[in-house]
Amino acid sequence: MPTPHISAPDGAFADTVLMPGDPKRAAHLAETFLDGAEMVTEVRGMTGFTGTYGGTPVSVMPSGMGMPSAAIYSTELIRFYGVRRLIRVGTCGVYQPDLPLRRVVAGTEAVTDSNIPAALGAPHPLLPSAELLATAEQVAADTGVDLATGTIFSSDIFYEPDDATHEARAAAGVLVVEMEAAALYAISALEGAEALTLVTTTDHLVTGEHLTADERQTSVDEMLELALRVATT
Ligand code: HPA
Repeated sequence: MPTPHISAPDGAFADTVLMPGDPKRAAHLAETFLDGAEMVTEVRGMTGFTGTYGGTPVSVMPSGMGMPSAAIYSTELIRFYGVRRLIRVGTCGVYQPDLPLRRVVAGTEAVTDSNIPAALGAPHPLLPSAELLATAEQVAADTGVDLATGTIFSSDIFYEPDDATHEARAAAGVLVVEMEAAALYAISALEGAEALTLVTTTDHLVTGEHLTADERQTSVDEMLELALRVATT
């Protein structure tokens, strides 16, 4: 049944949905990596697709930027379309001096300044599915992906007013910052689904380095293939 933000028919989504923030990345993922991908929704230009990877059905649905948007799409996918597993595939900024760009990070916990998890009554701490995390670690080891694991900060603010915030979070052991994982973990826990966040390091907040558009694409593709293998293992 269509929802306010997704216009797909019942059964249009596979059990596992990869969620990039960017709808263009969703289309890229579907066109480049899925077989027989078909667009299943395009409300507000948020294009979702279903196809197969290695013969197993997989969908991709953008989350948009930030936790309010990610919360809407993840809730509707799980509650109204019966999706069982959500794997966020995104990019992130780096807080730790010794964590380089182009690494894939799996979020073993999400911490946040957002009110969304607490307002929904989500359990604390905000954790990924242990099974999806273990699968990601195994697939990364088997395919030679140098996977970093650790705590992710999900921020409501991209343009932080003060660098001291980065330093405080780095000192607290947080590896990277992005803007959606905490909502995904909270809603998956509340709705009885499984979630994992995989993010590629693209912006270094200590050294000031940023990947170019081409470098972003190549690095993100490595993560997308890892996520697809996790989704279909
Ligand atoms: N901050 C927050 N989210 C991000 C960043 C960042 O520097 N880079 C990619 N996503």
